Amino acid sequence: MIFRFLTSGESHGKCLNAIIEGVPAGVNIDIDFINSELAKRQKGYGRGGRMNIEKDTAEILSGVRFGYSTGAPIAIVIKNKDWENWKVPMSVTAVEQSCENIKLINEKTIKNVRPGHADYAGALKYNHDDIRNILERSSARETAVRVAVGAVAKLILKEFNISSVSYVSQIGNVGANEVNNPFEYSDIIENSELRCLDKTAEDKMKDEIDRAKNDGDTLGGLVKVVYRGLPVGLGSHVQWDRKLDAQIAQAVMSIPAVKSVEIGLGKNCASTSGFNTHDEIFIDESGYYYRKTNNAGGIEGGMTNGEDVVITAAMKAIPTMLKPLNSVAVDKKESVKAHFERSDTCAVSACAVVADAMCAVVLANAMLEKFSHDSIFEMKNSYDFYVKRISER
Ligand SMILES: Cc1cc2nc3c(=O)[nH]c(=O)nc-3n(C[C@H](O)[C@H](O)[C@H](O)COP(=O)(O)O)c2cc1C
Repeated sequence: MIFRFLTSGESHGKCLNAIIEGVPAGVNIDIDFINSELAKRQKGYGRGGRMNIEKDTAEILSGVRFGYSTGAPIAIVIKNKDWENWKVPMSVTAVEQSCENIKLINEKTIKNVRPGHADYAGALKYNHDDIRNILERSSARETAVRVAVGAVAKLILKEFNISSVSYVSQIGNVGANEVNNPFEYSDIIENSELRCLDKTAEDKMKDEIDRAKNDGDTLGGLVKVVYRGLPVGLGSHVQWDRKLDAQIAQAVMSIPAVKSVEIGLGKNCASTSGFNTHDEIFIDESGYYYRKTNNAGGIEGGMTNGEDVVITAAMKAIPTMLKPLNSVAVDKKESVKAHFERSDTCAVSACAVVADAMCAVVLANAMLEKFSHDSIFEMKNSYDFYVKRISER
């Protein structure tokens, strides 16, 4: 991996952090763009109250000078605006055992694990009685800083006119109409409360979310991410861990609550015959290769084939339930109702933004692996040379 990153930070800790390694020198690191990506993740009908108190903004601490990357690691921090209220229960240092502090800590101590979360396995594995020690890091709050990292990856991709669109195609049982070119719907998607390009379906999805909320229930759904403008030949067929579809699947599957990732036809390929699966190749009058279909979703043999890369991911229903599920208290071996803490009813629209960011990371890395990459100048020269060479084939 050339574009690498690690994150740290807890849901109610002081801040979230990321260190990114591998950004070429000379990329315009547009902080307004990064913050606009963060704002997209925070939107969404069905999100919990937290979105009203936290307007995420990223701060860059290193690796950038006068707006341009230097080639050094880039450190990004997003401060948690609610930190003041959590300073004692989330203190990094030991706190004075005053009555007030003990009360504050006890109020935030969790004993009852939530099915569907990291709580149960995490508490046993890491030997914790207070489940908060697991919840704080397994929370999808961490995806905020991944979106900031993804925005940096997108800034690299933008240098090569590579663009993306991400949207919600299903919530619960309500599906949206499929379209041939989702890029034409970008404005509708960005103005939609659910990142949905089909207004009629969106209204039904909102009704579904209201119904779930009233019942103390939660919902999942499907997200789609489409990347356009990628050159032929990113990734490789020669080794299992270099296959681009496999890398995308891992990156998107790492998003909390994502349970399947598909490229192109995805699981429908199992029931589709060869004639109806494989995208035939034609040559136009100018000698350019083209296809009439894109069932492969832009990747064949672990490599981009020049078509749009089309990814679909399924997000399960949110596991923190207002009407709690049966569970256990692992410290006392007692049957209890699961813990409830402020939570989303549905976060599929946010998941679409995170999935877009994770795809950006994989694709930016694939571009860096393909082309000489110490500086963006060098990378563009290498890219131009390659594009010219393959256009002559
Ligand atoms: C953007 C986003 C927001 C989420 N919000 C919540 C939430 O408010 N409450 C919750 O219980 N789970 C939420 N989740 C899902 C959990 O974080 C996730 O299900 C949990 O960490 C267990 O991981 P797993 O589902 O991958 O096994 C969210 C996921 C994403 C991607």
